[in-house]
This record gives sequence, structure tokens and C-alpha cells, in this order.
Amino acid sequence: MAKLLVLHGPNLNLLGGREPEHYGADTLDAINARLRALAERAGHDFAALQSNAEHELVAAVQQAGRDGVAFIVLNPAAFTHTSVALRDAMLAIGVPFIEVHLSNVHDREAFRRQSFFSDVAEGVITGLGARGYEYALTEAIRRVDGTQADRTD
Ligand code: DQA
Repeated sequence: MAKLLVLHGPNLNLLGGREPEHYGADTLDAINARLRALAERAGHDFAALQSNAEHELVAAVQQAGRDGVAFIVLNPAAFTHTSVALRDAMLAIGVPFIEVHLSNVHDREAFRRQSFFSDVAEGVITGLGARGYEYALTEAIRRVDGTQADRTD
């Protein structure tokens, strides 16, 4: 059993009502419930945290390092484009992660194309809505289970 963590950045607590044309109609609770079911079906330990505060996310990342979390799915939300502190925390713990965005950050304002995480992430999923989290967690499970036989890299 591996520990899997999903981290959601600022304003993602508003999902369901927040700019549904960008972020869809699912609430964060609904997304997390699907992710938990996916992880637990695969026999893994699941935790999810949302915070609007950069320092809380940094603290959660540091704690994940201490707790032996095996893989992180991270939607840094607006901190994607601003947070050296959160990037440094991810680098400090060295836990592999996939960066997820509900919306296609390349099809919006220019400032959203800059990410402090993409170059150090295992991969990036952007624009596939809430399913992006599920794809990312599925890949995380494949990796922690060591079932990477069909990968080409
Ligand atoms: C987001 C994209 C970010 O640019 C934005 O600040 C968010 C959400 C997304 O999931 O599409 O809050 O990360």
C-alpha cells in the first residue's frame, strides 16, 4: 500500500460554481470522492487537501515528505504561475508528481502559460476537466505499482 496525495490550490474550494465554462460543474468534494474510490480500489492510502494559503500548501508538501508519500497529484491553481516557494518545497521533498489543470492553461491569458512546476513534474495534464485528476491518479497508481511495462520512455 502506497500513500497518494492530491493537493488543490487556491479557489478550487469553489469548484462547481466557479467559472464553470473553465472549470466544469463538479464540486471539489465530488472530485475527491472519485479519486479516493480510485486509490482505495487499487489498495492505496489516499489523502486530499485544498488550501487558499501558500504556507499551508508548503507545510503539507513538507509533511508529505516526512510521511513517506509515494506520489502527489498537484493542481497549484494560481500558485502555478507565482510560487517559487511551492516549487522549492516539491524539489526539497523529491516526491514525484503530476501537475493537473482543469482548464487548458495554454488557451487562456498569456500569464497562465508560465508554470513554476511543469519542468520538474513527471507530466502535465491540462484542459481535460476533472477527468484530468483521474488520469493523473491512474498514472500515479501504475507507477507506484511498478506496472510501467508499456511505457516507451
Ligand atoms: C487552474 C488554472 C490556473 O491558471 C488558475 O489560476 C486556477 C485553476 C486550472 O485547474 O485550470 O485557479 O489551475
